Amino acid sequence: MRLSDTVLPKLKGCAPKPFQIGIMVGHKMKMTFFVILTYLCLLAPGQAQPSGDTISDLSFKNMDFAMNLYRKISGYHDKNIFFSPLSISTSFAALLMASDGVTHEEILKGLNLEQLERADQPELIPKLFQLLHENITQNGSLKLDQGMALFIRQQFVVKKTFEDKMKEFFEADIKSINFADTQESIRFINEYIKQKTEGKVTEMISSLDEQIQLLLINTIFFQGGWQLPFNSNLTHTAPFYINNYNIAQVPMMFIEDKFYTMEDMRLRARVLRLPYQEGISMLIVLPDKGRDYTVVDDGITAEQFRFWIKKLTKTKLEVNVPKFKLEQSYSLQNILPEMGMASIFSTSANLTKLSEDESLMVSEVLHKAVIEVDETGTTAAAATTVSIIPYSLPRTFVVNRPFFFFIYHEDTNCLLFMGRVIDPTKN
Ligand SMILES: *[C@@H]1O[C@H](CO)[C@@H](O)[C@H](O)[C@H]1NC(C)=O
Ligand SMILES: *[C@@H]1O[C@H](CO)[C@@H](O)[C@H](O)[C@H]1NC(C)=O
Ligand SMILES: *[C@@H]1O[C@H](CO)[C@@H](O)[C@H](O)[C@H]1NC(C)=O
Ligand SMILES: *[C@@H]1O[C@H](CO)[C@@H](O)[C@H](O)[C@H]1NC(C)=O
Repeated sequence: MRLSDTVLPKLKGCAPKPFQIGIMVGHKMKMTFFVILTYLCLLAPGQAQPSGDTISDLSFKNMDFAMNLYRKISGYHDKNIFFSPLSISTSFAALLMASDGVTHEEILKGLNLEQLERADQPELIPKLFQLLHENITQNGSLKLDQGMALFIRQQFVVKKTFEDKMKEFFEADIKSINFADTQESIRFINEYIKQKTEGKVTEMISSLDEQIQLLLINTIFFQGGWQLPFNSNLTHTAPFYINNYNIAQVPMMFIEDKFYTMEDMRLRARVLRLPYQEGISMLIVLPDKGRDYTVVDDGITAEQFRFWIKKLTKTKLEVNVPKFKLEQSYSLQNILPEMGMASIFSTSANLTKLSEDESLMVSEVLHKAVIEVDETGTTAAAATTVSIIPYSLPRTFVVNRPFFFFIYHEDTNCLLFMGRVIDPTKN
């Protein structure tokens, strides 16, 4: 498998594609992780009763990690950004169970989860991830799915305890596979993914390194309809001011209704919440006109996010938001060492809880995420249209310059995706 070693997003077609995380040992061992973001259905919720405080705690720590990662990525370039913090955290929570010693400590620290580590409760963190996923998917009609699968070379021995934990906490399927037969392995994995995704993802991988030993696939998918769908008849072409010198013409969606909004006077930005159905929302953060978005960029923290959602108030608004699609890839092995996770990518990696083989290390972590924002809501029926009070002039919220967005689960404040749009015409 050829994985890029740049952190810059690759601009490709918009078909839902996987993102991939790979692990390699010298020339003999290689694991690859995939994460798909595509059309999928609900994961069956579990039975356990989550402890609210602690899940929120995990969400908040995940968000801190997300914001740190975001700042690292945004430090590399000034282009569009889109990724799924939850998906990355979850993949590394699995690696947490695989690792020991310094590697384990670094992952804990990198993910901001040190405070949740209890010597007497080694399974607390994976348990919390499990409960968080259950809580998010509790809502029967929500189309959010996250799943994990592990493909192992036949002769390669994975420790039973690791395998059991993968099953218990991530409902991960573990499949033995003959990677020496590359074509058959590709076919098998693609067929597996196709089934898992109800036929929506058919060609997930096209090539595999024949030395591959282990493949971990992590999938996440969210399909949301707006609570208040935009009327596509009102979508019109309008200018989007990328910077002082560049203006793009974009399809601008329009809606007038009551929305939750707030003004961040300190950062000089306005915030708008666009609710999806089923307890998920998109929060748009728009720097004031003339305000350099990079200054707001630096102010994006978990604390700030909490502040924004706490201060939202409902107001009648005329909203203009561009339609856009983003497909972004990141090779995180270049960024994560800067966030303290270095040993897992080096010969001193300690993955001894996964296997007796002491020469395992991670070589590549490629993350890929796809989003499409358009007018649609799944069913108009669920939309509670708030009547417009006559004679009061609505305020406007026009997203016609670079902005930030966050897709999060409201009850837990769990950040599913986050991104930045500098140029909506570049996917
Ligand atoms: C999910 O977690 C939130 C925050 O902790 C809590 O308020 C809510 O009751 C939980 N929902 C379910 C269905 O457990
Ligand atoms: C992994 O970490 C454990 C616990 O610190 C240690 O006992 C073991 O020797 C380490 N193994 C390797 C290969 O570093
Ligand atoms: C959009 O315009 C078409 C043609 O004029 C009309 O039939 C349709 O009802 C309109 N849709 C909405 C949501 O207003
Ligand atoms: C699903 O989410 C919606 C919107 O937050 C809420 O009104 C509804 O009660 C939830 N249903 C369940 C079963 O939790």
